[in-house]
Amino acid sequence: MSSQRKNEHIALVHKHYQEKQMSDFQNIKFVHHAFPPINAQEVQLNSQIGPLKLDFPFFINAMTGGSDETKRINEDLAIVARETGLVMATGSMSILFKHPELSDSFQIVRKQNPNGLIFANLGAGHSIENAKRAVAVLEADALQIHVNATQELIMPEGDRDFKLWLSNIETIVCQLEVPVIVKEVGFGMSRETIQQLIDCGVQIIDVSGRGGTNFAQIENSRRKDVSYDFLEDWGQSTVVSLIEAQSNPHIDYIASGGIKNPLDVVKSLALGAKAVGVSGEFLHVLQEQGIEATIRFVNEWKTQVQTIMALLGKVKVEDLVKTDLILTGDAQDYCETRNLDWKSLANRTSKGH
Ligand SMILES: Cc1cc2nc3c(=O)[nH]c(=O)nc-3n(C[C@H](O)[C@H](O)[C@H](O)COP(=O)(O)O)c2cc1C
Repeated sequence: MSSQRKNEHIALVHKHYQEKQMSDFQNIKFVHHAFPPINAQEVQLNSQIGPLKLDFPFFINAMTGGSDETKRINEDLAIVARETGLVMATGSMSILFKHPELSDSFQIVRKQNPNGLIFANLGAGHSIENAKRAVAVLEADALQIHVNATQELIMPEGDRDFKLWLSNIETIVCQLEVPVIVKEVGFGMSRETIQQLIDCGVQIIDVSGRGGTNFAQIENSRRKDVSYDFLEDWGQSTVVSLIEAQSNPHIDYIASGGIKNPLDVVKSLALGAKAVGVSGEFLHVLQEQGIEATIRFVNEWKTQVQTIMALLGKVKVEDLVKTDLILTGDAQDYCETRNLDWKSLANRTSKGH
């Protein structure tokens, strides 16, 4: 990861941002039941992933650091995280191993938010020594390891050898003192991938699916030679990735990829996620409207998530898996073809009560 590339990513994410983006979140709807059996003021927003206790079920997912421009963004995001109580992940810290002088572009996050929950981030090509160093630099509470083969292969200067990724992950999970979260970067996960990660000892997975920031599109627009535009809809959506994950219910899942509003957050939680990561949408608000407006925006989301939970009659985040969800369109076709049980999602309250 170079400073220049990170700055290009930021510019291209901005260029390709779509206010109303089609995603599988439009293929999933809650069944409305007219008598929510609660007082809306009872709704609680806290959640837990592995040993990590979260005050709110959504957070600022991995994006920046490693250049002067992204140091400023990291600082602004850290202030938003501090003022709203949200967890925050930094972008990939790989650059530190070539340019240790850039560590302040990450450390600014801890400096601005000394008591917050902060996640470090590295690719799966790294050793346990590098993982320990990334965590130490940030005094991080967890490490995210991103898996991004699609992005690397479309990137002209990207990695080509992925053979060691799983064994690196296994070593890091075994030896690191903080929890490890393995995440995609917007291409989703299959139950087979999830099983491979579980076999390596992984306990927390961010499925990060298709539907939001699209790194196939971003890397393709950075290419000057041949086009890979035919790969721009590669991967599984966040919605179907969460349904894939239901085959392995004994670990904790995070949803990310295409979260545009509080209803997407609640739909993800209802599909079994314990927390929901937001990148592109928060970055957009920050860049367009600044820190104060982003803090207001995040606080509005908290209230709106509470409102939706009240409408669904659920006091706790973990109760949302007892709601009824109708899956339609492409998402339904996908589940049908993959033999994933989408029908029982529609009748969970009558079975569960
Ligand atoms: C500008 C930008 C930079 C990103 N950099 C990283 C990164 O360094 N490491 C990582 O794991 N994911 C990175 N991501 C991916 C996000 O964490 C997330 O998985 C993906 O963007 C899908 O979420 P979204 O649709 O909410 O943006 C980046 C995303 C954006 C928008």
